[in-house]
Amino acid sequence: MCGIVGYIGNRSASGVLLDGLKRLEYRGYDSSGLAVLCDGKLNLRRSVGKILNLRALLTEQPLKGGVGLGHTRWATHGVPSEQNAHPHTDCSKRFVVVHNGIIENYSILKHNLIKKGHRFESQTDTEVIAHLLEEAWGKKNFLEKEYLDAVRGALNQLEGAFALGILCVDFPELLVAARRDCPLVLGVGKNENFVASDIPALLHATKKVVYLEQNEVALVRPKSIECFNLDGYRVKKEVVTVRLNPLQAEKANYKHFMLKEIMEQNIAIQDTLRGRLFAEAGELRLNLDLRENFLKQIDRITLIACGTSYHAALVGRYYFEALAKIPVTVEIASEFRYRDTFLGKKDLAIYISQSGETADTLAALRKNKKMGVKNLAICNVLGSSLAREADTTFFTHCGPEIGVASTKAFTGQLTALLLLAIHVGMTRGALEGKEAKELLNQFLKLPAWIRQTCALSKKIKTLARRFIGKDHFLYLGRNLNYPIALEGALKLKEVSYIHAEGYPAGEMKHGPIALINREMPLVALVTESPVYDKICSNIEEAKARGGTVIAIATEGDKAIRKKVSDVLYVPKAPDIFSPMINVIPLQLFAYHVADLRGCDVDCPRNLAKSVTVE
Ligand code: F6R
Repeated sequence: MCGIVGYIGNRSASGVLLDGLKRLEYRGYDSSGLAVLCDGKLNLRRSVGKILNLRALLTEQPLKGGVGLGHTRWATHGVPSEQNAHPHTDCSKRFVVVHNGIIENYSILKHNLIKKGHRFESQTDTEVIAHLLEEAWGKKNFLEKEYLDAVRGALNQLEGAFALGILCVDFPELLVAARRDCPLVLGVGKNENFVASDIPALLHATKKVVYLEQNEVALVRPKSIECFNLDGYRVKKEVVTVRLNPLQAEKANYKHFMLKEIMEQNIAIQDTLRGRLFAEAGELRLNLDLRENFLKQIDRITLIACGTSYHAALVGRYYFEALAKIPVTVEIASEFRYRDTFLGKKDLAIYISQSGETADTLAALRKNKKMGVKNLAICNVLGSSLAREADTTFFTHCGPEIGVASTKAFTGQLTALLLLAIHVGMTRGALEGKEAKELLNQFLKLPAWIRQTCALSKKIKTLARRFIGKDHFLYLGRNLNYPIALEGALKLKEVSYIHAEGYPAGEMKHGPIALINREMPLVALVTESPVYDKICSNIEEAKARGGTVIAIATEGDKAIRKKVSDVLYVPKAPDIFSPMINVIPLQLFAYHVADLRGCDVDCPRNLAKSVTVE
């Protein structure tokens, strides 16, 4: 979604902002822009498309000045165009605003402002904020206190979600930032300070950050940061040092972040396991605020998430049911938030989110919080809203995920879910010590299995070449691997734009089998498992109708070769680990098909990394 960068200090703002925007590119955008304040004048540069275009514009028409705001826009209100690109100003060009989120009551505000004589230049919801500030300013000379009252007054009129950066020509030494339901972080430098929607934008400049909370306003000056709530009361903030290494947010020698993130999954999983798994002692130390008594008393677990994280939740259901013998429901957050739901004190709700900023997942958490439900988050981003608002958080520690398509965060989530299921199973007595110890010992082998599976990349690229002209794909799996079929199909469609569907293989004959012909390749997850024979029968049914089948099978399974046209062999491992292993060839297949088709793999069209609006 939209990215915000703000800078105030003694360097040239435009260079710092452009660099920050480049680092936020992964969030997804369709236009970008900068505003820099110089000699009492606000100067804007905006362009449609990639940041390259904005850079070219700035080379032709450079901007001078040490305070400014930058923005990458992911269109919500109004098409991607220069006029709709942020920053936006008021009629007098006194205020300038960049915004992430959606102002839900913007039409009524706009209507009232137009009646008062304001002229709008864009179709965006954001522009109303600049005009609201202008309206409060009137024609009088503004003192700083009045300016801040005007900001608070404007924010109090807004319904919806926002992260904002605001500048006013009358206060060249002051950058205002504010947030509600969208993330915003402040970077603390030496004689310079920063604002950004995400930490990777700051890492090269500073590792010291201040997280802005709900309904807080920050006054950012070169040498100070002060924070207030919307009633004007000062709030004390902590400066946190982030432990991320800037190199983790670099591509290294890989062509794309997506490929790098797929290939580093063995390391990411080791990082998820570190300090938690003590196989020899048969112990897990998860350091979560989950009392033994509570875990023994709960009646049900509800897993809530969106997109790829939802697919992790679907696998999680099998884990908790099999190992902890507890009923589990799995919910798509955007549906859950508007349904009549009945969770209470005997429920554990688990929210899964890479970013921790997904608007629907956060809304589900807030809904359950009101009902007194115990809330656990599985999240990759330290300091994210989800992590801050949940009762307790299991951090996956996979490192920054920059590619828009989620890969390593997914296997990290599966690892976290399996560890949690073992923990709940042991606590409730559903999992015997011996069985648990055996499982924990096997867990140690997972990074090596993942590494071996990643070595298939070259072979998969060759295979992908044969399929780049296809328009449709069907992915089949059963049991633990049904969600992996869904995830494989999602990966392919989001990065290569090929239509793909995931299906539980047993459902084929209830409809989708009608689709199968020579033009519809199938990818079948057919590794060793209790449903191996069943899925083999499903493959035969597809083959009998002319389908070309690519199988993901277990090393040593010679029989499968006769049944399908292509086989990708993965290492032999217990079925319970198969989701983490089997998803890798599917991620690599999606990546190579997309790359060979010339797609923008790291920033697929229309997609955003962190979906901070509904
Ligand atoms: C797909 C993808 C999305 C996210 C979804 C939830 O590759 O990345 O489907 O999984 O937007 O995002 P998080 O996990 O950040 O809540």
